[in-house]
Amino acid sequence: MRRFIQHTELARDSRFMRQNSLNAIFTSLPNDVDQVVEMFERFDPIIAQFVKGTPFEDIYEQYGPGFNLILLNERLRPDETFVELKLNARMHGIFAGELQALEGAGRTLWDFPEAPWDFKMNMARQCWDESRHVQIFEKLLAHVGGEVGQFPESTFLFEAACADDPVLRVAGVNRGLEGLACDIFRDMIEFAKLKGDKLMEQAIDYVLADELTHVRFGSEWVREFTKDDPKRAKAAKDFQREVDRQFSIGGARSAAEDAAIPIAVEERKEAGFTDQEIEELAEVSTSGPTRQTLRDAAEILRVRHQARKQQKEAKEATA
Ligand SMILES: [Fe+2]
Ligand SMILES: [Fe+2]
Repeated sequence: MRRFIQHTELARDSRFMRQNSLNAIFTSLPNDVDQVVEMFERFDPIIAQFVKGTPFEDIYEQYGPGFNLILLNERLRPDETFVELKLNARMHGIFAGELQALEGAGRTLWDFPEAPWDFKMNMARQCWDESRHVQIFEKLLAHVGGEVGQFPESTFLFEAACADDPVLRVAGVNRGLEGLACDIFRDMIEFAKLKGDKLMEQAIDYVLADELTHVRFGSEWVREFTKDDPKRAKAAKDFQREVDRQFSIGGARSAAEDAAIPIAVEERKEAGFTDQEIEELAEVSTSGPTRQTLRDAAEILRVRHQARKQQKEAKEATA
């Protein structure tokens, strides 16, 4: 079996659609309303194409290319307007993330035959956990009325698991992205409690307990691999910081009081994050646009989208 495969080579059946071209927008949003509007308008043709035949079609009709700002920027709460769509999209995203976490840990086990035995045991154990998570989220997706393949898949998690150095993989995936998973799972548990959905609450709580151990051994291996090697330690820290910055989802995950996804401080401490690292994460997460910037941009995009639609309809009526 070949070592070091790219994200484009991941095996998927015919239910899955791939969509990576929009990742660049969400990982580079500035805190400037006009620039955010400009970016989304530039990508409008791709976004229009991407929503076709997906459950996003209706919300795109209403809000135009900035619809995702409405979905990502607001908290997941049972009384919210788009709660069903948002919940399905989030469950589907997590399901795909679990699949890639399984593939990432599996590849890391295989790609570094010279790595310490204990490291390989941890990766093997993670594979076992992630395969259970894939099954849990497949069932949770069905539980909320969704199905596999209804949304396009982005392979950002697996892409963070393609580095040549195993320390970057555990820094980026285990500490960066699985840390983000802890933030999201904590928020989902709160949502399930508010909704009175015991099954969802308990299932995600079980998964969160596993994720904590993955983040924890990520913390341990970064320490172990980089002891006496400040250059490698810096590379690991920089890589994780970049992953944290990119996947704060345009500021949606932050330490702000009204954050759409708050940082799960208690869980992160339990998983080996220091107070200083949590402070740094809060800093990185708030370096993106504010919620107000994104709300203002979404409103401008909505108004322009509606105006364009009316113009088009008027033109068709006179033709
Ligand atoms: Fe997982
Ligand atoms: Fe995990």
